[in-house]
Amino acid sequence: MSTPHINAKKGDIAETILLPGDPLRAKFIAETYLEDVVRFNEVRNMFGYTGTYKGKKISVMGTGMGVPSIGIYSYELIHEFGVKNLIRIGSCGAYNKDLELYDIILGMGASTNSNFANQYNLPGTFSAIASWDLLYKAKKVAEEKKIDVKVGNILTSDVFYNDTPNVYEKWEKMGILAVEMEAYALYCNAVAAGVNALTILTVSDSLVKKMETTATEREKSFTQMMEIALELA
Ligand code: ADE
Repeated sequence: MSTPHINAKKGDIAETILLPGDPLRAKFIAETYLEDVVRFNEVRNMFGYTGTYKGKKISVMGTGMGVPSIGIYSYELIHEFGVKNLIRIGSCGAYNKDLELYDIILGMGASTNSNFANQYNLPGTFSAIASWDLLYKAKKVAEEKKIDVKVGNILTSDVFYNDTPNVYEKWEKMGILAVEMEAYALYCNAVAAGVNALTILTVSDSLVKKMETTATEREKSFTQMMEIALELA
């Protein structure tokens, strides 16, 4: 039951999947945190793995960057492989002045400048939101582990290098915490299919404070984000 982008059989992929943008991050997560790991996809080097975490079956796969890429992979995972819980783990740029580098955000909702939702022909503007179950569980896990998380609205942008100066200011005024490039499409696909999705982000740069992290520095907050994500399985 392969699709154009995923070369796997239906049972190869767990009902719960972690979705980093970078396929090499997926490989690292599988090798570091999972047991009995099997690689189920290598099409376009978008590696996907299934293994177990504390005895529970879980998968992890890269999504690539941006709305079109995660739109394709999440749609195929849901509709062809029966995936029910899709947890994006990624990085974001802070729009809010109170956010520090390495802070962790749970994306309760996603606003966007993308036209992804045009396909639904809705007579208005669609607000893409996370699954309440996953959001609630993630917040509880974070509290139990004494990991501080911010919960709120994020922006899914089609544009990384923006020609408009200080574009974050208008979004910040509307309560947007941070910018990334995938959550809106993931939430739309999940809601339209009646399955669950959540986005967990680590702040990797701040557009307000004009600061960014180095790869080595990101390791600690990445570990905390992973601890939350894995417990959701
Ligand atoms: N992901 C991490 N930082 C980002 C930024 N500044 N813009 C969009 N996506 C990001």
